[in-house]
Amino acid sequence: MVQKYRMYIAGEWVDADSGETFTSTNPYNGEVWAEFPAGDKTDIDRAVSAARTAFENVWSTTLPGERARIMRQIAAAIGKHAEYLAQIETQDNGKLIREMSAQTKYMVDYYHYFAGAADKIHGEVIPTDKATMFNYTLREPVGVVGAIVPWNSPLLLLSWKLAPALAAGCTMVVKPAEQTSASTLEFVRLVLEATDLPPGVFNVVTGFGPSAGAALAQHPDVNKLAFTGSSQTGKIVAHAAAENHTRLSLELGGKSPNIVFEDANLDNAVNGIMKGIFAATGQTCMAGSRLLVHESVKEELLDKLARRAGQIKMGDPQSMETEMGPVAFKEQLDKIKYYCQKGVEEGATVVTGGKAPTRDDLTSGYFFEPTIFSDLTNQMQIAREEIFGPVLCAIPFSTEEEAIRIANDTPYGLGAGIWTYNIQRAHRLAKAIKAGTVWVNNYRVVSYASPFGGFKASGYGRENGLEAIRDYTQVKSVWIELADRVGDPFTLG
Ligand code: NAI
Ligand code: MG
Repeated sequence: MVQKYRMYIAGEWVDADSGETFTSTNPYNGEVWAEFPAGDKTDIDRAVSAARTAFENVWSTTLPGERARIMRQIAAAIGKHAEYLAQIETQDNGKLIREMSAQTKYMVDYYHYFAGAADKIHGEVIPTDKATMFNYTLREPVGVVGAIVPWNSPLLLLSWKLAPALAAGCTMVVKPAEQTSASTLEFVRLVLEATDLPPGVFNVVTGFGPSAGAALAQHPDVNKLAFTGSSQTGKIVAHAAAENHTRLSLELGGKSPNIVFEDANLDNAVNGIMKGIFAATGQTCMAGSRLLVHESVKEELLDKLARRAGQIKMGDPQSMETEMGPVAFKEQLDKIKYYCQKGVEEGATVVTGGKAPTRDDLTSGYFFEPTIFSDLTNQMQIAREEIFGPVLCAIPFSTEEEAIRIANDTPYGLGAGIWTYNIQRAHRLAKAIKAGTVWVNNYRVVSYASPFGGFKASGYGRENGLEAIRDYTQVKSVWIELADRVGDPFTLG
């Protein structure tokens, strides 16, 4: 049975104005399981207008402590429904229930952390050079936020935006990815509706990127856009934002290096590399998709990796035993196959994988084997472009300088892993690598408390940590004359 969803505008469940719908597929069995309204510009206009009204009349003037109280209700309701929300996500995008249940439980902490921040957002008194003037700043919410979210971690990436936005006093319209709209609507139904969040503060318009997404990005009454997705679409959104001088944060793709030196603990490195590229079937922005390995340990490391990759349990993502689920949808699987074909044509060696599995129970889902390519140069297409799948590209190096050069020779700059016990080298590299996050002797570790974002084509703006609050607030400078008399009008100051 296909489950029919409606979208959420101004506190009401509604269909698209056009009456159009689209469906979503379970990537484990290829079956259509849910149907959503195909919202477009008309629906985006309604949602933005609802968010504007809620911002001006209610949320921006709600006291910080009250906003925090409601955010703690949200945290509690997520905790209560964490398992169900995890299941829905697994059904919609094939992410492991193992990762999803940890993720939805961890989301609770995001709302608590930013609830705690809500009443600590304040301006400053500034001692200026003007003798009789009193100057202070106000840190005010930016207003209506348009959030455009991808399909790889829908609820978590939404929370990275929503928690700081609510804390700051902003309202929001979100356009979830068309492949994974269900969890956001279930989040409203089970979580937000169980709280005192006023209607219009959070609105959901489901629909396609080029219609609903573009309408949100182009909307003149949106004050800030928060986008996570591909670098290509990020550019389109940035052009749209420029038309209206809309603030923008972009969290885009990556081609992040995991750099293994000769003194590294190779067993730990194997775990970190696997975490970086095979967890979430490689569909994460921070995937450690390039393995830079010192030539003296290359053979040993690739042997260990190939052995471990070959043991990965692929299967039903709803089973707690499964280690790698399907790719989220068919076009994404086709893209991975295209790049693997390309890698072979470019002369890279397939160490393991490189194809869809043939096991009977895996043929109806969008599965792809954990894949390792070696003998690459950093100039090959598979070493330069984001594949967004379980495909690791191994590139050898012989000196630290060469490792740094190859690591930075990419349009991207999201993350990097460094595997060494040499403390000077670790800090030298942490400084030299052009990326928003650097991990030493681990990989893919994130926290609500630590800023996350990109350098270069991986985007700008930061999510998580108090740093994120800056993106949802703007500063106003207020000058008060303390003297009784205003002086000469034609001199500066
Ligand atoms: P996408 O960047 O096109 O989609 C992300 C979001 O943007 C979705 O909600 C989509 O509906 C929306 N969108 C699409 N076109 C838009 C437009 N013209 N205006 C406004 N919003 C628009 O990514 P897509 O097509 O889902 O995946 C393609 C590739 O992007 C993947 O293979 C992967 O390489 C990369 N990607 C990277 C992500 C990351 O976190 N770094 C996340 C998702 C995809
Ligand atoms: Mg789907």
